Amino acid sequence: MDEIKKALSEADPFASWWPFILAGVVFVIGTVRTYMGGQPCPNGNTIPDRVIVVTGAAGGIGREVCRELARRKAGCLVLACRDTEQGDALRELLRREAPDCTCEVQVLDLRSFDSVRRFVRQVQTLHPTVDALVNCAGVIFQPGGRTADGYEPHLQCNFLSHFLLTQLLRPQLLRSQHGGRVVNVSAHGYTAAKIADREDPLNVRQLATSGRDAFAHSKLAIVLASRVLARRLKAEGHQTTVNCCSPGLVRGTGHLRHSPIMKALFAKVLTFPWMWLFMKSPAQGAHTIVRLVTDPALASCNGDFFNDCERVEVSELAKDDELAERLYQASLSAVGLCETMAKEHTKGKKE
Ligand SMILES: NC(=O)c1ccc[n+]([C@@H]2O[C@H](COP(=O)([O-])OP(=O)(O)OC[C@H]3O[C@@H](n4cnc5c(N)ncnc54)[C@H](OP(=O)(O)O)[C@@H]3O)[C@@H](O)[C@H]2O)c1
Repeated sequence: MDEIKKALSEADPFASWWPFILAGVVFVIGTVRTYMGGQPCPNGNTIPDRVIVVTGAAGGIGREVCRELARRKAGCLVLACRDTEQGDALRELLRREAPDCTCEVQVLDLRSFDSVRRFVRQVQTLHPTVDALVNCAGVIFQPGGRTADGYEPHLQCNFLSHFLLTQLLRPQLLRSQHGGRVVNVSAHGYTAAKIADREDPLNVRQLATSGRDAFAHSKLAIVLASRVLARRLKAEGHQTTVNCCSPGLVRGTGHLRHSPIMKALFAKVLTFPWMWLFMKSPAQGAHTIVRLVTDPALASCNGDFFNDCERVEVSELAKDDELAERLYQASLSAVGLCETMAKEHTKGKKE
């Protein structure tokens, strides 16, 4: 030990370039990680008494959204989960981290419209008002086939079921004294989406599509339909807002669990350093969603797309209002609603 101490005290750090090289490498890695982590949520305000519904609550990003909202003193979080065991584990964690926040676990399987309707009935029974709805659940590289309702799985899980959920919860959202906010989680990948036939904006007549293409299309559908709903609510004089966001590229979640490449151990090992360096953590991925739910400065922000906590322009295809209208109408009929039904439903429940 004495020898080591002596050697260290006599060591001359300027005798070699290595300490400088090492410090440079650490600095570059730190800078890259900070930059890739994105901008943190700029506000830290609390949201007491608010009732917030989060889908995909037990997943990587959804879980961090719930933890942050609970820390910010949300009144009640409705944790929409497919697997109640995961939901119960999250509720237990939140009970320890934020004892003042009430958490409810409710079953929701987005592969089934019946499950969405059952979930909505539960929420409506317990909560006359919902202050925010975070549509965070999502899948990619799902095995092909059709859901029991007859739709491509990405389209139904990522988009159609959330669309139905939002339409059915409209009365509760409109009652919110804080305006009511819908936050739809999309992805950068929406820019790669293609709609070959404008008469078929949901691509239901498209036969073979890869998981990646189906994911991109479902995320574009989210952006298009959100813009239409935002316009509709504004035109009807409501305060409720609808915005979309991308969480960025986030490591350490279950998102790629069905990816054929990422199932291989060698791919996991090879990509780990790159993911660690260039991708966000789930908590960093949650920042934009948390800002959209909590920031009072965004109370009148409607129909926009956010990335890294900032509003960004959407692609030309996502700005196509005529296509968006077609897609919105096709989505209403796909989930068994029509414009007047959605409106009447809203009016009836408001009175
Ligand atoms: N991670 C990324 O890099 C990334 C990039 C862009 C966009 N996103 C989007 O961010 C959101 C969250 O993704 P994540 O990375 O946190 O992925 P994740 O860990 O896989 O979380 C997804 C959540 O969705 C739930 N879910 C999946 N299928 C469902 C169904 N049929 N019914 C109800 N819930 C279902 C999952 O529940 P189960 O555990 O029960 O399946 C899970 O809780 C998704 O919309 C995703 O598309 C992620």
